[in-house]
Amino acid sequence: MKRLLIPILLFMFVLLGCQAPPAESISQPAEQELALDPDIAERHDTAIPEPYAGTTSPVAAEDASSGELYTLHCAACHGDSGMGEGPAGQVLDPPATDIANTSQLVSDDYLVWRISEGGSSFGTAMPAWKGTLTEGEIWSLVNYLRGLSP
Ligand code: HEC
Repeated sequence: MKRLLIPILLFMFVLLGCQAPPAESISQPAEQELALDPDIAERHDTAIPEPYAGTTSPVAAEDASSGELYTLHCAACHGDSGMGEGPAGQVLDPPATDIANTSQLVSDDYLVWRISEGGSSFGTAMPAWKGTLTEGEIWSLVNYLRGLSP
């Protein structure tokens, strides 16, 4: 019986994967996103405002200063590993996101918007960094967040 378990499970996954999604669900968030806290998923689905919508990074992906910036400005809340384990972030409501995870699910323009403007659109404690960090530094941080993984 044990030997059959894996083929049966695989078969079930194939069956599940074959079901064509109904037309209206095509624009729904990716499967991983569905496991997210609904409030986080809702923020991810918000239309990205101007001037951020569609912007792409002017900073090379290998830019090295971003780790220091992250440790200095972000780790207290988001944690060294980016899993939201920073003590200052855990006491907030909503708490600091597990950014190592969510950065893999969203677009660059979403990240640059959220870092620049913080939680102002959502009434959260995420600070706005646009007055403190340069645009280049914010883009370096986007690269850094992408390099983190859960
Ligand atoms: C005072 C604590 C605090 C600090 C410091 C902080 N954050 Fe946040 N951050 C939050 C909270 C709380 C959220 C969740 C609420 C939200 O999305 O607005 C968040 C959300 C985010 C998001 C959106 C994540 C998502 O999944 O939608 C990004 C991106 C982000 N932070 C990046 C950063 C970066 C980069 C820094 C450092 C420059 C930083 N944060 C510093 C508290 C903080």
